[in-house]
Formats: sequence, structure tokens, C-alpha cells
Amino acid sequence: MRGKFITLEGCEGVGKSRQIRELAAYLTQKGVDFLLTREPGGNPISEQIREVILSGKNTAMCDECEALLYAASREQFLRETVIPALNEGKLVISDRFVHSSFAYQGYARGLGLDFIEAINRTAVTEYMPDCTLFFNLSPTEAFKRKGGVDKGDRVELAGMEFHEKVYAGYLALLDRFPHQMVSIDCSGSVQNTANNVVSALKQRNLIP
Ligand code: TMP
Repeated sequence: MRGKFITLEGCEGVGKSRQIRELAAYLTQKGVDFLLTREPGGNPISEQIREVILSGKNTAMCDECEALLYAASREQFLRETVIPALNEGKLVISDRFVHSSFAYQGYARGLGLDFIEAINRTAVTEYMPDCTLFFNLSPTEAFKRKGGVDKGDRVELAGMEFHEKVYAGYLALLDRFPHQMVSIDCSGSVQNTANNVVSALKQRNLIP
């Protein structure tokens, strides 16, 4: 039986990585066979594409090139990383997926959802996640939590106005995909948020 596919989304610094570690610990303790992966990345080719997209040196990259590189990385990610694991019946958990392209490139860069859908056809039609958790915290709040420090990659350097647009994009996506996307309240403690994640996934019978 094909495994389930869960993706995690949110603006920079919302504590996604920490929550992924919490979820992985929970699943290990429950004996679930899962694959934890990330986008862009997850395999050697997609990781190389990640380096090109995120390099602070590539300031000349146009928005369309950026969107197409994410889509290229995603094709490899699906074929090499996600689909084989799903076919083995694994639960696949990805830190980001096509909703990032909708929010960052579709909304914030202004390329539009039709363009993003068109260049992500395989991902969008056949392998949409069973559930997408959106860590719902505004960029301003997230930045404060990080202690006001950026990693300095190309996307993070785009500025607060850009990240506010990303956040607005995610909120619009919640309306567009009401059955698939779930808003996770992460305004409380790490443990609180971790509990919200587990209960959202349990409710949808995706995890024990
Ligand atoms: P990460 O830092 O959460 O690993 O994500 C890498 C960056 O790439 C992050 O700033 C979001 C951005 N991104 C997009 O703009 N579009 C995409 O499709 C994906 C997957 C990530």
C-alpha cells in the first residue's frame, strides 16, 4: 500500500526544524517507518540545485529561473526520493514542498499560481500531500524569536516586505486548499506546538 505524504510549511524562523525533530522523535517512539526529507534537497542532485538557488552570490537570478530551478529540483525529489519511499509504504515527511513555490514564487515574487502549477505539473497533480501543516506565525514574530539574525542566504536577504508577502500568500493558500492544508498555532511553547502537530495528524489518521 502506498505510504502517506506529509509536508511542512511556513515562513523563515517559525521553528519548523525544531518541530520536525519533535515529530521524528514521536514517530520513532511509536515505531513508524518514516522518511524525513527536505526541499529543495533530499538527494545529491536536488541538493546541488539548492546550492545554486540559495547562494548569496546569485543575486542576478531572475524570478522565473528561480521558480524553474525549484521545479527541476522537485522533479528529481519526487522520482528519486519521495515516490520510491511511498511505494515502500513509508510515511514521507518533507520540510517544504510545492506550497513553498506557490507562496514564495507564485505570490511573493508575483509569478502567479497558474505559472507555478504549470511548471510543477507532476507534483501538483499526482503527488499532492495527504496533509500540509502550515506553521502559522508572521515573519515579524518569527524574526523576533530568532533573535533578529538571518542566515544570509539569497531568499532570507529579500527583506521583511517580501516575507510579509510570503505569509499573505500562505494565508491565501489555506483558503485555496482547505481540506489539505492545516494551520498550526505555534504562538505557544515548543511542547504546545508539538502537541498541536501530533493532534492534527492523528485527527486525519495519518499517524498513530
Ligand atoms: P529552508 O531554509 O526552510 O530549508 O528553505 C529554503 C528556502 O527556499 C526558504 O527561504 C524557502 C525557499 N523556497 C522557495 O522559495 N520556494 C520553494 O519552492 C521551496 C521549496 C523553498
